[in-house]
Amino acid sequence: MQCSWKAVILLALASIAIQYTAIRTFTAKPFQLCPVSSPVNCGLGLGLGLVGQEAEGGELRGCEEISNFSYNASRKTHVLILATTRSGSSFVGQLFNQHQDVFYLFEPLYHVQTALIPRLSHSRNTVDRRVMLGASRDLLRSLYDCDLYFLESYIKPQPANHSTDKLFRRGASRALCSPPVCDAHGPAEANGDEGECVRKCAFLNMTLAAEACRERRHVAIKTVRVPEVSNLRALVEDPRLNLKVVQLVRDPRGILASRIETFRDTYRLWRIWRATGRRPYNLDLTQLSMMCEDFLSSITTGLSRPAWLRGRYMLVRYEDLARSPLQKTREIYEFLGLPMDKNVADWIQNNTRGSSDLSAKHKYGTVRDSAANAESWRLKLPYDMVDYTQTVCQHTLQELGYKTVNSSEELKNLSITLIEEKTFLPFL
Ligand SMILES: *[C@@H]1O[C@H](CO)[C@@H](O)[C@H](O)[C@H]1NC(C)=O
Ligand SMILES: *[C@@H]1O[C@H](CO)[C@@H](O)[C@H](O)[C@H]1NC(C)=O
Ligand SMILES: *[C@@H]1O[C@H](CO)[C@@H](O)[C@H](O)[C@H]1NC(C)=O
Ligand SMILES: *[C@@H]1O[C@H](CO)[C@@H](O)[C@H](O)[C@H]1NC(C)=O
Ligand SMILES: *[C@@H]1O[C@H](CO)[C@@H](O)[C@H](O)[C@H]1NC(C)=O
Ligand SMILES: *[C@@H]1O[C@H](CO)[C@@H](O)[C@H](O)[C@H]1NC(C)=O
Ligand SMILES: *[C@@H]1O[C@H](CO)[C@@H](O)[C@H](O)[C@H]1NC(C)=O
Repeated sequence: MQCSWKAVILLALASIAIQYTAIRTFTAKPFQLCPVSSPVNCGLGLGLGLVGQEAEGGELRGCEEISNFSYNASRKTHVLILATTRSGSSFVGQLFNQHQDVFYLFEPLYHVQTALIPRLSHSRNTVDRRVMLGASRDLLRSLYDCDLYFLESYIKPQPANHSTDKLFRRGASRALCSPPVCDAHGPAEANGDEGECVRKCAFLNMTLAAEACRERRHVAIKTVRVPEVSNLRALVEDPRLNLKVVQLVRDPRGILASRIETFRDTYRLWRIWRATGRRPYNLDLTQLSMMCEDFLSSITTGLSRPAWLRGRYMLVRYEDLARSPLQKTREIYEFLGLPMDKNVADWIQNNTRGSSDLSAKHKYGTVRDSAANAESWRLKLPYDMVDYTQTVCQHTLQELGYKTVNSSEELKNLSITLIEEKTFLPFL
């Protein structure tokens, strides 16, 4: 019995590792992790080496030697928006997507997940998680280097002739919807809706996409598939990159309310609870508790100010951004050391409360009357559900400065704000 159990684990482990190694092998020119000097940690050995390394140190370390990047690294900034689903990450993504000098990608790690862990959308299996993280870091490194071919090995079906119509949320990236990548759109229309871009632009030429990336000075990538900031340590410390992490958090109660509306299947039992007023006995808390744990570990790491995060980490509460979008966005750009351009300011003006023409501009689905929206969850969740969530996420709420409510009256009375004034200064 015990023996077969072990065999199953071994088999699973091996098959994942082989898949990953195979994918790396298929890539014609994998990103050179480092010159030959430490082959054990590099190149193809990584696929299998990774699991062990991760298990030991928790970090993927290795190549000390610095190879020459294909661009002048000192001039390029690599931005990672570390977020979770329904935390306002599309909104924050737009703050970069709209910038002239930024090449923005919306959730490229989606392809890693579907290629490596097809069945489970949010696997708790630690081996899966490690493999996924290792592959994700490799991919992020390559993408920051504008090596978009590397992504192809994860896209299904595998693109032929470096051309694909299967890039996840291609339409969310302005650079991929405007010339020279797509001629069907003028630059102005590139602000238009995603579906339009996908319909008009048809196949994405990855060669052109990579060129567009190289032409822009900075690269920003949004992901909800990296659990916490310490998972990024190897990238933050990679001297070839100039990675800056903007972590977006939001009140977990607000996230829950939004997910219940959005992910009808996964959150079915929560819907039943909301509809019937009775908590289902088999309610699955995993997603909620994992989210709060991941937030907490990230904040704990961030606030403890380890040397490796100096100048590289900023925590942003969605509610603060919603309350004063322009000011908060300026702070973010200041932290990144980048000038904010007029496009970004205009976009904020057009898509937040300041706008007089809201109705026509809701194309992204994520862009709403942001300030009003940030606390609207309070009218959507019943008190007992909120109370329950507060118990599960108690420390997280406290650390992030979200007040708990003690009664239904408090919950529904929107003149009492639940957002404490709390300043999270970037660690410079
Ligand atoms: C990187 O490129 C510069 C100039 O092209 C060269 O002098 C240097 O030796 C290269 N460094 C490495 C590690 O290859
Ligand atoms: C890289 O950019 C910096 C700042 O613009 C400049 O001083 C440096 O000479 C550049 N290096 C190369 C190899 O182009
Ligand atoms: C790839 O390009 C070659 C040469 O242009 C062409 O013969 C082939 O049919 C293309 N493959 C696909 C799948 O489009
Ligand atoms: C993609 O663009 C490159 C560069 O312009 C071109 O050489 C190549 O033929 C294009 N590929 C396809 C499939 O159209
Ligand atoms: C903002 O809205 C104006 C008027 O509708 C439009 O002309 C402009 O292109 C928009 N700008 C952005 C960045 O969305
Ligand atoms: C609810 O009670 C706790 C503990 O007594 C208190 O810290 C918190 O401020 C109260 N919440 C509100 C919204 O007053
Ligand atoms: C809401 O809270 C405010 C401030 O505590 C209080 O003055 C007001 O009476 C409350 N409104 C309701 C309807 O309870």
